[in-house]
Amino acid sequence: MPKVKVNGKEIEVKEGTLLIEAFKQAKEDIAHYCWHPGLSTAGVCRLCMVEIEGNPRLQIACNTVVTEGMSACNNSDKIKETVKWGLDFHLINHPLDCPICDQAGECGLQDQYMKFGKYTPEMSEHKVKKHKVVSLGERVVLDSERCILCSRCVRFTSEVSKTNELGIFNRGDRAEIGTFDGKPLDNNYSMNTVDICPVGALTSKDFRFRQRVWYLKNGTSICTGCSTGCNIKAYYNEEGLFRIKPEPNPDVNVYWMCDKGREIYKHINLDARLTEARSGQAGNWQVRESAECLKEAGDAIRQAVKDVGPTRVAMVLTGQHSQEEYQELVNFYLGDLACREIYHWINNPEQMEEFDGILYRGDRNPNTKGLLGILAKEKVNAPWKQLEDRLNQDSVDVLVVAGPEDPSVFPDLMEKLHLFGKAKKLLWLSSTKSEIVDQVTTPTWQIPLKTFFEKDGTFVNFQGKKQEFKRIATIVPKAMGLTDVTKVLSGRGEGASQGDKSDLDWKKTNFFVQQRGPL
Ligand code: SF4
Ligand code: SF4
Ligand code: FES
Repeated sequence: MPKVKVNGKEIEVKEGTLLIEAFKQAKEDIAHYCWHPGLSTAGVCRLCMVEIEGNPRLQIACNTVVTEGMSACNNSDKIKETVKWGLDFHLINHPLDCPICDQAGECGLQDQYMKFGKYTPEMSEHKVKKHKVVSLGERVVLDSERCILCSRCVRFTSEVSKTNELGIFNRGDRAEIGTFDGKPLDNNYSMNTVDICPVGALTSKDFRFRQRVWYLKNGTSICTGCSTGCNIKAYYNEEGLFRIKPEPNPDVNVYWMCDKGREIYKHINLDARLTEARSGQAGNWQVRESAECLKEAGDAIRQAVKDVGPTRVAMVLTGQHSQEEYQELVNFYLGDLACREIYHWINNPEQMEEFDGILYRGDRNPNTKGLLGILAKEKVNAPWKQLEDRLNQDSVDVLVVAGPEDPSVFPDLMEKLHLFGKAKKLLWLSSTKSEIVDQVTTPTWQIPLKTFFEKDGTFVNFQGKKQEFKRIATIVPKAMGLTDVTKVLSGRGEGASQGDKSDLDWKKTNFFVQQRGPL
């Protein structure tokens, strides 16, 4: 392992490490726009300049491999002057858009200017005008004037998504990013180009002009869009959730996530949610307290087991909830009720094994592997056909369904609810509201559940990797986790989670911004 000195600090690095990586490892600040750890080196922005001992010319750190005994620095006056001029060249044609630019507040150009800016610019020429609002595809907008031609977005489409939609066209100060033959940038990873664009040239149609980034808080979690379990950062404030971005994890998603995964915030926001417990049937609902409904359901379950035996009650689980929650529910059924009627609802059986070769998997649940692990450990293997038969023969008195958190990945929701409605009583546990439940004619209790954003837990991804996640904020105060649901259902407690205060203040919501479609 070669030893290298970075701004006087001696560190040991892995063979083949780039000097820019050595600076990062030594926690020494280094300016860079075109280099990205997940892409090949382009060496075009010339900002990562360093002085290397024994080398008379300045070098770029992103294209220099560390060798034994190397000593490099980027804190000399010579380097500072060079970066200052480099930055000035990047800004020759860059517009003064910061007040209206979505990137403001998290922009590489702003950040570097504050450190190295040439506050008395010497450029007197007019800026070159370029295309301002170019729709590159369904999700991404380009502002050519802001582009600094770092080529990160082009390299992403050629090296990661391998869809090759983007290229740099024309030369000199007329050069612009564009799509080949008008082919739109519409692959399922297109929004990563927005993340890696170091300036505000590429912006998200969904997020544009909705919020200033300095008004957003964020928390890390796990994407629930499929069984890959990409690590994510969720951005929110008191008006709701606004965007999801990837968090690097070399073992799971490296630096990326898919566009479908970025949409999961939509079913967490208040307008999609079931906010209160209700009981009734065929759309005639009475708003109730969750604990009251769950006590009734628990009594009905115990009564059925006592009167006609444990095969008369059943439970359906989806791969959408956490390990801890499944274990509680399964323990209740196996331990308290001596009932093994536990069934796995597979929402998309034809696509379960699909994989796009990058990240996105056909199993659109975050914890199928975890659920199957618990069922296997407890030797529960009731076939779905058995549940269908029992329901069709009117021999299920109470059915508990821990249903979808994201109904958009349950294309069979209507068909399954029709089947579940054949039970004599139904306990429907779900975080989202659904008009389809109104069609169920059997007496039903509906209990609002927390989403992954509102609770702690563990998911097991398709690789068998356990990933813990933590509560970020509360959106629906009356929503419960399945652990609390089980406590009340089994008569062991009241469920601690009810009555939490919401972290959102909907009075402040700008409904125009919330409800408009993508720009
Ligand atoms: S659009 Fe952004 S990522 Fe693409 S070349 Fe321009 S500055 Fe770089
Ligand atoms: S690949 Fe799956 S886990 Fe990753 S972002 Fe997409 S939907 Fe989410
Ligand atoms: S980061 Fe090294 S040249 Fe751009």
